[in-house]
Amino acid sequence: MYTAIILDYYRHPRNYGTIRGADIMERDLNPLCGDEIEMHVKLEGSIIKEIKFSGHGCAISQAAASMLTEMVAGKTLDDARRVSRQDMLDALGIPISPARLKCALLGLKVLKTGVYRRLGAGMKEEFW
Ligand code: FES
Repeated sequence: MYTAIILDYYRHPRNYGTIRGADIMERDLNPLCGDEIEMHVKLEGSIIKEIKFSGHGCAISQAAASMLTEMVAGKTLDDARRVSRQDMLDALGIPISPARLKCALLGLKVLKTGVYRRLGAGMKEEFW
């Protein structure tokens, strides 16, 4: 049911870890299962110079968070703010049932919460 790509990101997550002295540190959990994702971002001006994630959870949540770090590395905070739910679902490349939506979007929710906080703005988007 998962593609080889999702399983590969799950088993060999890119950008897994933490960043000492990160400019953005944000964590949240999927309220349905308690699985957690934490995102660390190091900035150079408004550019995402380095990004790492850590946490635990199902293959979809971990693979999505890892893919997301690659999507926004080297981009601006504003670019990260504009990554949409659909962008994340497209990157996963498989149909995501409503029951798994929180898994797929947990990393994005964490990152965007941190980015909005850094930009001094409240996040108005609905994630779940
Ligand atoms: Fe917990 Fe997917 S089952 S994040």
